[in-house]
Amino acid sequence: MKPILAQLSAAVSDAMRRALGDAATGVDPLIAPAKDARFGDYQCNAAMGLAKQLGKKPREVAEQIVDTLDDAALTMIEKPEIAGPGFINLRLRRDFVETTLDAIPPAAEADRLGIETVDPSQRQTVVVDYSSPNVAKSMHVGHLRGTIIGDTIARALTFEGHEVIRQNHLGDWGTQFGMVILGMWHAAMAAHRGEPPKYLQRALGELRSAVAAGSEAKLAYLKQVAVRSRADYDADPTGTQIFEPFLHDCRTKSLLDLNDIEAGYLYINALTKEAAGTPYAADLKDPKDVAKMMQRGAADDAQERLAREIAIEITLRECNRVYRRLGVQLTDQDVRGESFYEPLLSGVVEELRASLHEYKSAPDGTRAICRVDQGAVCVFLEKPDGSPAYKGPQGDPLPMLVQKSDGASLYATTDMAGALYRLAHAVRHPIQLRSEKLATALKKLGGGLGAHRVIYVVGAPQKLHFEMFFATVRALGWTRQPDGGEARLEHVSFGSVLGEDRKMLRTRSGESAKLADLLDEAVERAEAQVRSTESDADKRRGFSEEEIRSIAQTVGIAAVKYADLCQNRNTDYVFSWEKMLALQGNTAPYMLYAYARIRSIYRKGVESGQVSGDLSRSAIRLEHNAERALALRLLQLPETIDAVGDTLLPSVLCEYLYDLAGRFMSFYESCPVLQCEDAGLMASRLRLCELTARALKLGLGLLGISPLERM
Ligand code: ARG
Repeated sequence: MKPILAQLSAAVSDAMRRALGDAATGVDPLIAPAKDARFGDYQCNAAMGLAKQLGKKPREVAEQIVDTLDDAALTMIEKPEIAGPGFINLRLRRDFVETTLDAIPPAAEADRLGIETVDPSQRQTVVVDYSSPNVAKSMHVGHLRGTIIGDTIARALTFEGHEVIRQNHLGDWGTQFGMVILGMWHAAMAAHRGEPPKYLQRALGELRSAVAAGSEAKLAYLKQVAVRSRADYDADPTGTQIFEPFLHDCRTKSLLDLNDIEAGYLYINALTKEAAGTPYAADLKDPKDVAKMMQRGAADDAQERLAREIAIEITLRECNRVYRRLGVQLTDQDVRGESFYEPLLSGVVEELRASLHEYKSAPDGTRAICRVDQGAVCVFLEKPDGSPAYKGPQGDPLPMLVQKSDGASLYATTDMAGALYRLAHAVRHPIQLRSEKLATALKKLGGGLGAHRVIYVVGAPQKLHFEMFFATVRALGWTRQPDGGEARLEHVSFGSVLGEDRKMLRTRSGESAKLADLLDEAVERAEAQVRSTESDADKRRGFSEEEIRSIAQTVGIAAVKYADLCQNRNTDYVFSWEKMLALQGNTAPYMLYAYARIRSIYRKGVESGQVSGDLSRSAIRLEHNAERALALRLLQLPETIDAVGDTLLPSVLCEYLYDLAGRFMSFYESCPVLQCEDAGLMASRLRLCELTARALKLGLGLLGISPLERM
């Protein structure tokens, strides 16, 4: 099955070219699905523009195009009508729709409904950077969107036939690590003193209450910690007696989980802040010093690096659990954290200074220059007229910082390094670099991934960062392909998940809601729903305990995912249990029930024995309008998936699936299936049931939802 839209576009383009010659060669035929079925299935809107260009009447141009359509086109569509100022209404021929559906091969293991993959010449390497949580922070609802939107995009592009490289850009680098490691050190010492587990959570609570109780209580608390820390430090000055063995034990025993690590980070953060300027600061280690230790190199840093690695492992263990529950395909193989780019960072700064010491322009005319400003290395971006492309709150030029005055690199530096790694390829896309250091470091990392398209699935607050960073990459020429094309850099932005109060979703205690807890609650609520139906004598389905739990699992998780994916990702949405678990409307329960219901109709039909032999041999017959409307929608699955790959909007797929299910319901209301008297027609209708179920399953599968056969 090929996308209808593309086939129509090709046929109309061809007619345009033959009718109007050069003027129409390469002009987009502007084909779009018709808004109103009375005007056909698709519409071509190109005549108006062409007429203007040619100085002709639009209807005349439209007629010329229609008259030039060849026989091949007319096996697909009826002779088109021209409407209004020159719209060409395209209506698919009934026999074309029937034979196209007839040609869909029987369901296979990884069913694609016979949808072809892109032509090898169009096959792209696409990097999708998504989820990208930070070490020592458990995933909260904010990570939900990026994780599932990114996963759907990756699945859709893979389905289209592109080579998709998933990259989980884990935040595993930077100054916060000093705090994380110090937190782990406190935990190790507490364990050594024989304190019970969850020490860091307790310490954080104690510190917070001491601060709340006033400065005297706070100082008393700090003093106690300072004295104890000094003693701890004296007991293990090199860290090799207590700290290091503890770290090794973390790998084999579950001494620390992500909540501990997170509490440790928060604890040290607060402790450092509260101790600043007091006499106790000197006795507490400075997290900045610890972070710096990781930059001494080789064996000197071994302990800090080990601690960091363990914090990463613990974080990923937790993330992987969430990914598995969400049906998200990320694995440890996809983790390419910020630290991966560390070897490129100083080279990137050197490259920027060498390459952008004079203005360079991106294809859109934005120009970039790299200058040192107050000791920091900055990239300034300007519009073609020389005015600043980005301004600070005071209207002054806002640069992108790649190196602080103390020499530290920043988030943008890592992203620059990441973009180079993702775009460059030793063979397919060698990038000329001025910095020898950078070229060598890149080579050591394998030369790069050679992406034609790099997609960053990151929330809207980082919009400015991505604009500036993309402009810089483009100005450097890193996106320019050897064939003259431009690699695409795209920021897939998304809004926030809001609570019923329209503020950021939080738990009752005011913390941002943890994703894992949210999923637990979703499954609990779904289970309660199933149990309540089961306790109703009229509605009971007689599910076993095991089935109830598996239905709850599927419905609960799918409800959370679908409620998110069906929203246009650019807007914020209000998280509502009622809405997402509703059985009516564009919700997961509705879609899942629709699927199970269609499957059950199909099974009954086949089991009834009224249709004989191999169903796939009986022809599709589209006699009723409702049959045709459903059939047409089935044919539009390929172009819908392509639209997701283009627009990177998963909601486009959800709308399609919802509409498809709706058309099935109308069909089922007006066209008897199981009661159909005509065996041939019954077989055709059963096939429509089967194809609809397969389309729903395929579509839901791209959202990472596997529907149940019975529910
Ligand atoms: N870890 C970052 C955050 O939580 C997201 C990283 C997104 N990817 C990127 N290449 N910048 O904000």
